[in-house]
Amino acid sequence: MTNNVVLSVTGIGKTYAQPVLWDVDLQLHRGEVLALTGENGAGKSTLSKIIGGLEAATTGHMHYEGQAWSPSSRTAAEQRGVRMVMQELNLLPTLTVAENLFLDNLPSHGGWISRKRLREAAIQAMAQVGLDAIDPDTLVGELGIGHQQMVEIARNLIGECQVLILDEPTAMLTAREVDMLFEQITRLRARGVAIIYISHRLEELAQVAQRIAVLRDGRLVCVEPMARYSSEQLVNLMVGRELGERIDLGERRIGPPLFRVNGMSRGDKVRNVSFEVRQGEIFGISGLIGAGRTELLRLIFGADNRDAGTVAIGLPPQPVSIGSPADAVRHGIALITEDRKGEGLLLSQSISANIALGNMPAIATGGVVRGAAELALAQRQIDAMRIRSSSAAQSVGELSGGNQQKVVIGRWLERDCQVLLFDEPTRGIDVGAKFDIYALLGELTRQGKALVVVSSDLRELMLICDRIAVLSAGRLIDTFDREHWSQDQLLAAAFAGYQKRDALVAETAPRISA
Ligand SMILES: Nc1ncnc2c1ncn2[C@@H]1O[C@H](COP(=O)(O)OP(=O)(O)OP(=O)(O)O)[C@@H](O)[C@H]1O
Ligand SMILES: [Mg+2]
Repeated sequence: MTNNVVLSVTGIGKTYAQPVLWDVDLQLHRGEVLALTGENGAGKSTLSKIIGGLEAATTGHMHYEGQAWSPSSRTAAEQRGVRMVMQELNLLPTLTVAENLFLDNLPSHGGWISRKRLREAAIQAMAQVGLDAIDPDTLVGELGIGHQQMVEIARNLIGECQVLILDEPTAMLTAREVDMLFEQITRLRARGVAIIYISHRLEELAQVAQRIAVLRDGRLVCVEPMARYSSEQLVNLMVGRELGERIDLGERRIGPPLFRVNGMSRGDKVRNVSFEVRQGEIFGISGLIGAGRTELLRLIFGADNRDAGTVAIGLPPQPVSIGSPADAVRHGIALITEDRKGEGLLLSQSISANIALGNMPAIATGGVVRGAAELALAQRQIDAMRIRSSSAAQSVGELSGGNQQKVVIGRWLERDCQVLLFDEPTRGIDVGAKFDIYALLGELTRQGKALVVVSSDLRELMLICDRIAVLSAGRLIDTFDREHWSQDQLLAAAFAGYQKRDALVAETAPRISA
């Protein structure tokens, strides 16, 4: 069995200001997928970064292909075939897709980069992950975040690889892309590649992994064959406490309409979308990647320019003019974005500064921030959402991915707004903490706010929403009530727009020419 071990980790520990990993022993076998799980802040990314050359261990040692392993950098690790898809995207937005894919390895001819070969190689690499529809000359910054994640994955599938670490690879993907990724994983396994797969999505782990390793508070608490556990047992293992089967958002009353969107349109991304959300209601928006969900929220919020469309808010809803995010905020609309690195957070600043941002009126007198008020505000959110941190003064860049997401949400919870637009609110958040966030959403509805929630996780929407609208190819196809939905119907609607669009083109073409 020993010659089947490609990588072994012995007694690995890591200490920043405080220890975050203790004495981790782990062996990785050729051709296996090892699921690595645990709560937010348990140390999964840290362990991965040590293996992948991004961080140095404080204690312990590693072996890779029979030799001592202590890569000095990510590039050094990649050259030897140890690669990592990071939780936080790492692409250069001002370069094209093709350039990002081959950054370390641009095809050249006598010192000149061969554009043609670059293009061809990129098309091939992207077809592997189902991105054939994207022109490799597109700037990465122009892609949606889900597609960016696919580019990051494609980048790591290129070139030699013996060990591949996927840190939350599917957090921003929907079912179709996940299937595509799993096909690639099967292909890599057959080639003998060992894969460490980090995810909070239990059903994915059960589907893809042969063994599971659980980290709790920086210690490895078990490494076992996956088949040994039911999903409830897995949750217990990960969280170390019992979670309820169902969720109870508490007593709440759904009132009259509070928020209305009418005819929202932008090019072919968002086409004539209208809906209404009632006071105390959670309104879900489902759809495939690229269906226009994020774009719709951004248009409502004034973050992008719309071609047409109006927004009304109040009891009863009165039209408001929104030309910028500042207008939206002034009218009591908040957008909690999915891209915490790009739009959400100042990574070098403290938790309290980040939460204070956007809550200035509550903690400032005459334009001067009251330090004590800022701290109290931050501490309230740290407690409410169980943000794992050393103190409110810790910089956000030092938090684990899931805890950064909690800070993004915490910032908006303190604000006085009537309508909250959530884009993937539980992305990268562990199973236990998800329930904390659902409880917070329930609390917001009890305050009479109207919530709009975009999520790629259909089960999550079915768990928390009163109604779910399905977007497909930019159109709102249908809206379903809690009493009248099924997973099959919701999925069928998600695909409907694409068929309809082809049919429409065929249908309208002769009429246009006539
Ligand atoms: N640069 C750093 N400085 C100080 N502390 C850090 C640093 N990086 C990570 N930590 C701490 O190490 C702990 C483990 O973080 P890590 O990112 O490994 O967690 P994780 O298991 O990947 O969590 P998540 O599920 O949220 O991604 C956290 O408490 C985090 O705050
Ligand atoms: Mg992590």
